[in-house]
Amino acid sequence: MLKIGDRIFESRIVGAPLAGVTDIAFRRVIRGLYNGLVCAEMISSQSLVRCKSKLPYAKQIISECEPASFQLLGRKCDLMAESAKILQGLGAKQLDINMGCSVRKVLRQGEGASLLAEPDLAIEIMKSVVNAVNIPVTVKIRKGIEKSSDGAVKIALSAEDCGIKAIAIHGRTAEQMYSGESDWDFISSIKKRVSIPVIGNGDIKTPEEAVTKLNMSGCDGVMIGRGILGNPWILRDSDFLDRKIPFSPVSSEEKLKTAFRHFDFEIEADGEDSGFKKIRKHLSWYIKGMPMASVMRDIIFRTRKVKELKEKFAKYFDFVKEFEIEYAKEKLSLFNVEQLFQKYLS
Ligand SMILES: Cc1cc2nc3c(=O)[nH]c(=O)nc-3n(C[C@H](O)[C@H](O)[C@H](O)COP(=O)(O)O)c2cc1C
Repeated sequence: MLKIGDRIFESRIVGAPLAGVTDIAFRRVIRGLYNGLVCAEMISSQSLVRCKSKLPYAKQIISECEPASFQLLGRKCDLMAESAKILQGLGAKQLDINMGCSVRKVLRQGEGASLLAEPDLAIEIMKSVVNAVNIPVTVKIRKGIEKSSDGAVKIALSAEDCGIKAIAIHGRTAEQMYSGESDWDFISSIKKRVSIPVIGNGDIKTPEEAVTKLNMSGCDGVMIGRGILGNPWILRDSDFLDRKIPFSPVSSEEKLKTAFRHFDFEIEADGEDSGFKKIRKHLSWYIKGMPMASVMRDIIFRTRKVKELKEKFAKYFDFVKEFEIEYAKEKLSLFNVEQLFQKYLS
């Protein structure tokens, strides 16, 4: 169980905010499989306040996708407070403040992880957002910007006094981006020093790793980011493993069904052109580790029409089915695999 303010989640596994990934379509897909907390991609407070029609944001906040958290990016207290009010008004039940984004453009604007070097401003931002709304507010930080973690530690230790209800920590510095490893010892050390829940983040790729990291770090929850790309089942499976509920790995039939649902949700959310462009990367992630995936990936990115892509994707799964049968009979050589692939996708 994970408790964030007055919100209680059965699962201790949290889906990370991923810009360009945890949009409404992918969160609808996840919701069909898993009932724990998932964070939506970050929203610029400046764009939200300046945008006259709030419709694009309203479309992201639907009750079907609860429980969700909506993340704000920014450095101006007034804009952060106003945008928090807007999101609450649109129906958001939980907010998060981004103090971890290490994208160069974001850092140049003094937002995201760059706030770790300005803990006093970070504290003002946390207070402003918390005071603007009556829903739980959390903060997501990294270990630091470069080597020093002083700013990150000060923010983490001040968060509760600012009214923050939980802290998510990615144990890398902004300078590291995604290189090296997430420092779970740092995450544990913060957990020991604060009384609000801590959600550890970084490098969880399997349900076993999720449960090991949960137990070893002493964290209240763990957050999974890149591990959900093409594999939303990792959230459910990690939760089942944590709660000792038996589960079986996802079948290729379920993968295909889910990928098609995702396809339809992207087009519904973004229209045919933009939805089509977005779904292609997801389709390439869904087939990661499957036979002839790299060849299929090229086909996915070369295909230009929705119907054609759906047909080819379904044929690829027919190929995979036959591959699995032949593989079980130990009848396949590399040459046979290519021949089999050509039979379905020539
Ligand atoms: C494509 C992508 C987009 C991301 N977008 C966000 C974001 O919008 N907000 C945020 O706080 N972190 C963002 N992150 C960071 C992740 O939430 C997470 O902290 C990081 O990937 C480490 O976790 P992992 O090792 O499980 O992937 C993003 C990461 C990736 C790879």
